[in-house]
Amino acid sequence: MTDTAARNEAARIFVAVAAAALMSACASIETQSSASDLLACTRMAADGPRPIATKRTERFLGKVGADTARCRGGERAVDARASPYVDWPAYWGAAGASSLAGGANAGAPGAADQRGLRGALADLEYQRIELIRFNLFDNSGTYRQFVEGRDGVGGQKVWDEMRLPPTHPAYDAVGGTGNQLCGGELIRFRNLDGTCNDIRNPRMGATNELFARNVEFEATFPELGRNELARNRHGDRLGLLKPDPQVISRQLFTRAQSHPASCNAGLGLPGDATTAQCDYKAAPALNVLGAFWIQFMTHDWFSHLEAGHNAAELTALGCAMRQEDGQEMPLAGDERDRLGCRPGDRIDRALIADASDPGTFTHDGERHPNRAYKTTRNTVTAWWDASQLYGYDTDSRRRVHRDPGDPARLTMTEVAAVEGNGDRREYLSPFAAGDPIAAQWSGQEATAFPDNWTVGLSFFHNLFAREHNAFVDAFRREAARTPDADCGLRNPARPDAVVRYRDVTPSELFEIARLVVAAEIAKIHTTEWTPQLLYDEPLHRAANANWGGLLDRDDAVSAVLENIVVRNFGASDNARRATAWYSVFASGPGIFGLGNHVYPDALAAMRRTPDLWSIANPAHVNGGVNHFGSPFNFPEEFVTVYRLHALVPDLIEYREWNHDPNMIRRRIPVVKTVGAEATRAMRERGMANWALSLGRQRAGRLALHNHPQFLQNLPLPRLPSVTGKVDVAALDIIRDRERGVPRFNEFRRQYGLRQLRSFDDFIDTRLPPGSPERVEQERSAATLRDLYGRHRCDASKIITSAQLDDAGKPISDCLGFPDGAQVDNIEDLDTVVGWLAESRRPHGSAISETQLQVFILNASRRLFSDRFFTSSFRPEFYTSLGVRWVTDNGPDGPQMERGTPNGHAMEVSPLKRVLLRNVPELRQALGPVVNAFDPWARDRGDYYSLQWRPLPDARSDPAFAE
Ligand code: HEM
Repeated sequence: MTDTAARNEAARIFVAVAAAALMSACASIETQSSASDLLACTRMAADGPRPIATKRTERFLGKVGADTARCRGGERAVDARASPYVDWPAYWGAAGASSLAGGANAGAPGAADQRGLRGALADLEYQRIELIRFNLFDNSGTYRQFVEGRDGVGGQKVWDEMRLPPTHPAYDAVGGTGNQLCGGELIRFRNLDGTCNDIRNPRMGATNELFARNVEFEATFPELGRNELARNRHGDRLGLLKPDPQVISRQLFTRAQSHPASCNAGLGLPGDATTAQCDYKAAPALNVLGAFWIQFMTHDWFSHLEAGHNAAELTALGCAMRQEDGQEMPLAGDERDRLGCRPGDRIDRALIADASDPGTFTHDGERHPNRAYKTTRNTVTAWWDASQLYGYDTDSRRRVHRDPGDPARLTMTEVAAVEGNGDRREYLSPFAAGDPIAAQWSGQEATAFPDNWTVGLSFFHNLFAREHNAFVDAFRREAARTPDADCGLRNPARPDAVVRYRDVTPSELFEIARLVVAAEIAKIHTTEWTPQLLYDEPLHRAANANWGGLLDRDDAVSAVLENIVVRNFGASDNARRATAWYSVFASGPGIFGLGNHVYPDALAAMRRTPDLWSIANPAHVNGGVNHFGSPFNFPEEFVTVYRLHALVPDLIEYREWNHDPNMIRRRIPVVKTVGAEATRAMRERGMANWALSLGRQRAGRLALHNHPQFLQNLPLPRLPSVTGKVDVAALDIIRDRERGVPRFNEFRRQYGLRQLRSFDDFIDTRLPPGSPERVEQERSAATLRDLYGRHRCDASKIITSAQLDDAGKPISDCLGFPDGAQVDNIEDLDTVVGWLAESRRPHGSAISETQLQVFILNASRRLFSDRFFTSSFRPEFYTSLGVRWVTDNGPDGPQMERGTPNGHAMEVSPLKRVLLRNVPELRQALGPVVNAFDPWARDRGDYYSLQWRPLPDARSDPAFAE
């Protein structure tokens, strides 16, 4: 089928579905919608769907017309349009129970709640399409081709820049100087250095490849003032230490303490006494397991450090200057004392890959840099391949201890029973003499990525090491039972030869277990962590659609859509043109497993036979991936929105599973479980107790004035400084400046969100005046003004090319205020500070909409680009047991939760299953848990409630007494 024919076919299905929805809308003139809402729906339908922007300046910005808003959310949604924030959170059904319109036909497709929810999903999909179209910027030399096309075709699928270099050991095997194509052993498993995931672009996503960007290159490194827009935007107001990062940290990030002595700067009290107290703003519906989970994930996706170090040169961390009337003044000693900052802190400078002039090219009369003004390297694989557990280069693999008795297994040693912990006592072994480690990792559990180790990371590494071994053991049991049976695996060198269970070698089984564990982790993250982080119905549906699709996977329409998506849009020569339709239609069948069946036509797809997929056919092995015309790696901007240190509490409320779990027995400072101390704490107290403790406690809220005290005072003995400490919150700001992340307002404009015009836009004006929350927000806005200052604006200075103002005119330094007016220096605001300050967020969302926007693009892309999550999710790679294990959340078939939480029949969640399998002591504690990242003893109440109330069995828990 041609591109056009495929689009027509897909469009026909789309129109049919839309028409059906409209008809049922008319058929159910429900009581809950006012006549004016329905009139608005009619007008909205008559206007037709919004065209997808073809120019950056015509983007959607998450804002809809008045009729659309009224149809999807009534008066409340119409009012919300005035704010700079996206509209969908005000739609029917998109928040808690009070957002439901209800009514007799509430579930019917045209009913108000369904209009709201579908509208929210449509808005999110528009955002994704535009993000894919306007926000991909590869640093490795392919950008010019992306813009200009090659041989008249826009957007590419294969790049010279992604070829293996002659120095790579597999250079000859993939084809040397000729066409490079991975085959044979190179395509069977996740290669250690991340090569050959895409078999035609062997180097993509490999260790030490360059980070990408999601913003125009001109917008990076604004303090360099390399273009007029940046100079107009910021004047000479920016520098690495300007405004002073440690002063920002202390004035805007510090957690206020009602009993400072009982917190003791995060060190708690002697003997881990329960009388210790470190106040923090708690997230309503996310637990501390969820906080450490995301640290565990980021260590898989990206790192800037080489073996625990940055560059050799040291830099100060601030605590030297303050602003007064727009001028930098030295910070007086008594002010330093009051703030509690340390001018003696030092940190090693960020590593830079290339700071040379990027050069430019001209296209359609516009000049573009070939890459960002400086580039940085991702020192781990960019794939979601569990590289934090299994390694990303030879040194990190040497840190992974394999069981000498069975090299398919990870070494886990028995630990002497300690009274009270009472669990299974199988733990990762610590690093041994000769392991390639940095000094600061000595004494920790042996694992590939050992940085910033705490008891939270220790927990997840031990858990998934147990899971790895559980898979190996299950496979071995199967092999013992049916040694001659076909295990599903195939060797591409002999594609037709059956591989029996008995034929699988220990090293093959190790790599199969890695595939399975990596996919389980991706599934947990996508379908369990994400919907809990973004606790509302639209995001529940969107996250699940990314994995398993909006349609039932076994549904015939889903199979047909998948066939259309992969064989037509995916096979299109013009990756950029097919982009928009690809992501829309992929949300039908979902991204996971996309292209892992190949049917000759739609009828066969509907019948699901014959499946022509073959490991011998490179087009089948690789057919499900889509990079949308730009090679895959994470962008620097993605790292920025994962600076989630505020999620971590200072003290862990420690409980024991086999005594009264409602009792808090100790308050253990996180900082006392760092490095080797984490390993000691894990072994002494046991995984079950730590899981229970981390599972029941709420994470910190991602907000201003909520950074852990211990992270502002973190001992970092590896650095030669007088203090031996760093303020990690200040470091978060410095690192973004070093890596050229645009400041908050330009960041939003680049991502297709509306800018803010003043610091007052951070105040949620829906809150009653004088309410404590609003007063705090007003105070924070004033502090932002003090820290970042104001200036007299100049309307002749254009500051961005990413957007136009409401009148279609260029945006100037005055941001819509009169020429010469005093305006806030909101353009200078560091991005981390900006998204922490966003008080108006979608319901239940622990993160801000700015962060969400970055996730919409990159969370989808790390699935779309990965062969092992799409066309190579097959028994030929994973074995039949492996495919079942990932699909069913374990070896013993799918299991359902009781009831219908938030209106859905739900499978027992994948992390709950992993926990039940590997820490069986938790059976009772996990009984009522629906999502392992929701505080375990919280009564989830009704529709997306955020209440902090105990389940009946937990009424005596003092954590609920607050
Ligand atoms: C919620 C849990 C956490 C998350 C999501 C998180 C996330 C991050 C991210 C995204 C970075 C930037 C990494 C890079 O540039 O490649 C970072 C850096 C850092 N984190 Fe965390 N972190 C968490 C917890 C912790 C904890 C508990 C510690 C301390 C024990 C810690 C210490 C650090 C330090 C020292 C750096 C700076 C590394 C450098 O640039 O030199 N983090 N963290």
